[in-house]
Amino acid sequence: MTTILQLNSSIYGEDGQSSRLADEFVSQWRDREPTLRLIRRDLAKSEIPHLSAQTFQAALTPKGDRSAAQAAQARLADELVDELLGADVLVLGLPMYNFGVPSVLKAWFDHVARAGTTFSYTENGPVGHLDGRKAYVFATRGGQYAGTSSDHQVPFVSQFLSFLGIEDIEFVYAEGLAISEETREAALRRAGIETTRLAA
Ligand SMILES: Cc1cc2nc3c(=O)[nH]c(=O)nc-3n(C[C@H](O)[C@H](O)[C@H](O)COP(=O)(O)O)c2cc1C
Repeated sequence: MTTILQLNSSIYGEDGQSSRLADEFVSQWRDREPTLRLIRRDLAKSEIPHLSAQTFQAALTPKGDRSAAQAAQARLADELVDELLGADVLVLGLPMYNFGVPSVLKAWFDHVARAGTTFSYTENGPVGHLDGRKAYVFATRGGQYAGTSSDHQVPFVSQFLSFLGIEDIEFVYAEGLAISEETREAALRRAGIETTRLAA
């Protein structure tokens, strides 16, 4: 049984184009594997705060050594890390906002990158603990950036996932959504076809 962790981060919730593609992908996967286990978070609605020094310190403190306050401070980060460690597949809805990833997704990144748990520092450099997992990323943009040096989003997401050990990443793009109705329709049609191909 596959466990999918799906993170949407559009400010438009289920109506976001990235959410629609990610939801469609998971729905088609479920048609193929009805028993799949899905953990779905809408990061724009859930309240993942910016990481604070207190939360960071509490999360790095071994569970048995935490004070009651630290246990409370680390609870959400622990939950997010456990969800990630328990997943076989990560699905990201990835809107582009102001040239980067949504700040809510960055906040999630900050909570799950935990030395000793999701990655380790070794004498040969950092090693991710999530090897063997696969990620599918549904990237939606008003403009067109894929494959150009102006795309700062995809290299960042790839580097972050790779840092955690997730090297097998598929990107589906729907670009040019703000350029014209024709560009938008064509991009969404192509992305839909690619989504179906990957879910098969
Ligand atoms: C606040 C905001 C900032 C945006 N910034 C960019 C941008 O920097 N580059 C771009 O190509 N599109 C930008 N867009 C357009 C979005 O990428 C596009 O609407 C996309 O569909 C967003 O994904 P979503 O529908 O899943 O929210 C922006 C949209 C919003 C609302």
